[in-house]
Amino acid sequence: MKGLDNVIVRLITCCIICLFLSTQSTCTEEVNVITNVKHELRELNQDSEVLKTWSGDPCLPRPWHGLSCELLNSTSVITKLDLSFKSLTGPLPPSITELIHLKELNLSNNRFTGTIPEFPASSVLTSVDLSHNDLTGNITGYLTSLPYLTTLCFGSNPLSSQNLPYSLSRSNLTTGNGKCSAQGSSHSSQRIWIGIAAGGSLFIMIVFGISLACLYKHKRMALQKFDVKRHPMSKNAVYAVPSMDDIVTKSISIQSFTLEYIEIATEKYKTLIGEGGFGSVYRGTLPDGQEVAVKVRSATSTQGTREFDNELNLLSAIRHENLVPLLGFCCENDQQILVYPFMSNGSLQDRLYGAASKRKILDWPTRLSIALGAARGLTYLHTFSERCVIHRDVKSSNILLDHSMSAKVADFGFSKYAPQEGDSGTSLEVRGTAGYLDPEYYSTQHLSTKSDVFSFGVVLLEIISGREPLNIKRPRNEWSLVEWAKPHIRNSRIEEIVDLNIKGGYHAEAMWRVVEVALACIEPYSAYRPCMADIVRELEDAFIIENNASEYMKSIESFGGSRRYSIERPIVIPQTPIPTEPSTVLMQPPPPQPR
Ligand SMILES: *[C@@H]1O[C@H](CO)[C@@H](O)[C@H](O)[C@H]1NC(C)=O
Ligand SMILES: *[C@@H]1O[C@H](CO)[C@@H](O)[C@H](O)[C@H]1NC(C)=O
Ligand SMILES: *[C@@H]1O[C@H](CO)[C@@H](O)[C@H](O)[C@H]1NC(C)=O
Ligand SMILES: *[C@@H]1O[C@H](CO)[C@@H](O)[C@H](O)[C@H]1NC(C)=O
Repeated sequence: MKGLDNVIVRLITCCIICLFLSTQSTCTEEVNVITNVKHELRELNQDSEVLKTWSGDPCLPRPWHGLSCELLNSTSVITKLDLSFKSLTGPLPPSITELIHLKELNLSNNRFTGTIPEFPASSVLTSVDLSHNDLTGNITGYLTSLPYLTTLCFGSNPLSSQNLPYSLSRSNLTTGNGKCSAQGSSHSSQRIWIGIAAGGSLFIMIVFGISLACLYKHKRMALQKFDVKRHPMSKNAVYAVPSMDDIVTKSISIQSFTLEYIEIATEKYKTLIGEGGFGSVYRGTLPDGQEVAVKVRSATSTQGTREFDNELNLLSAIRHENLVPLLGFCCENDQQILVYPFMSNGSLQDRLYGAASKRKILDWPTRLSIALGAARGLTYLHTFSERCVIHRDVKSSNILLDHSMSAKVADFGFSKYAPQEGDSGTSLEVRGTAGYLDPEYYSTQHLSTKSDVFSFGVVLLEIISGREPLNIKRPRNEWSLVEWAKPHIRNSRIEEIVDLNIKGGYHAEAMWRVVEVALACIEPYSAYRPCMADIVRELEDAFIIENNASEYMKSIESFGGSRRYSIERPIVIPQTPIPTEPSTVLMQPPPPQPR
């Protein structure tokens, strides 16, 4: 009878695995192809920062940098690849032609060489940007005849493009610059507009396109169907496609603004939104409509010059989607001003227990995705350019949330490169905020990334408990969040510390993962604390468990009352092999006879 037990257990396990695979994972072929693309690119781009971040599932829990994914028949497929401005060299990776769901490909502004690989005629590509590379060969051919292609940019390449203009937009039979505004300007004298002959061949291509479009109607319908499906997903911040802020991060270099420009943008410092150690923060709007936060150091202040320079230097070099980017600065009339994109959802602190928390409770999956985002931002800092950068003031009020609730770590005023051998590590004064301070750093003044890890552990506890790190209005034994939470966690009583607002709204296993990470982070001895990369991995696991759990629960409910394989049901094994009641057992194939 042990055999029967095993069969049932195996069946249940198999069901769970099947469900997980079918509802969550990225399509296996896609994974293989993108992995090949990665290897092909890595060959000549060993030091590429982007490729180093490409690990794990390409779409989950968050797409790899530069990728966008969509759900198709319950699996994720890659629909967009943007590697513009990534200093990549070598030939174009031939495997990209095997990404059969790819709609947008942007490889502009790199140093790619060689010829363009041949995409299959079944390609669903709508937009291809290859401009500003060193590509050679012939552009007229299969690429221009792809059925769905509406935008093709290839300016500033030594390509032989015959009599095509440097960019081609075919959506309404019009040609021109379209989206590729800056492309080909250096060759503008050579620009030749499509003549009658090219127009004729274009017409043939369109006819070809239309007939193919009919053939592929089915495919298109599938794509549309899944566009509808995608919407519920995008509510969840982690699945959101790269936000506007990310695009700004990549394409805009830091600008120098005039004081007049700043005054117009902020309407003469009308709306004060914050007050920091450095100075006041005002809200403003740039002429192009972008909302910004403007950090102003007052002319009379003697403090903060160093913080200003530090932030300016670091932020002009450091760019990551989970770090607040610097848009520009102004140094005029002794005024020191830094301009950032405005983060419309405020700070994590405010959302957890500030004024904003009273308007709307931050649910557990969102908290988890914010924790993961912030951890990734810090990982990037800690591994930045061989010498790592230590933030030194990690706290929930420095984790900002953009319009899609994606986390951005802010305030690099006190950040420092980690001391290397030969540097005197003790010359640095202790920085940070009460409640978040690493006890070891405080006593030894030895700076390391593990101090940020401690502070991040405190942030995790805030996320779990919804409490501030220090509050002397609470009973004496609850003043310090760390000291209060530790014994509860050690005695496995996490319900005692979990925020009442999210009771019942979390998966216990996911919560436990986060609690365990938090406990490891706040170890008094830094050597016992994990590093940020390990923390990211743990939080990713927790995130996947949390999301799979909710998917799994939904699918159980949709079985429509049939609870034949209910896990809770105790399996009663009779002592003697008498006929069993007609229940679950009879629905199974005959169990193997026990020996
Ligand atoms: C999605 O699934 C349906 C039926 O299960 C199938 O007919 C269709 O071809 C699939 N679409 C793709 C793009 O695989
Ligand atoms: C490709 O990326 C660059 C830089 O991000 C952008 O300027 C350009 O418009 C993109 N091309 C297309 C066709 O979207
Ligand atoms: C490029 O390809 C087109 C169409 O296949 C052809 O007419 C043209 O002669 C080719 N040009 C070169 C330089 O090979
Ligand atoms: C042509 O362009 C107009 C607006 O520019 C747009 O509404 C329309 O859908 C386009 N037609 C096609 C076939 O792309």
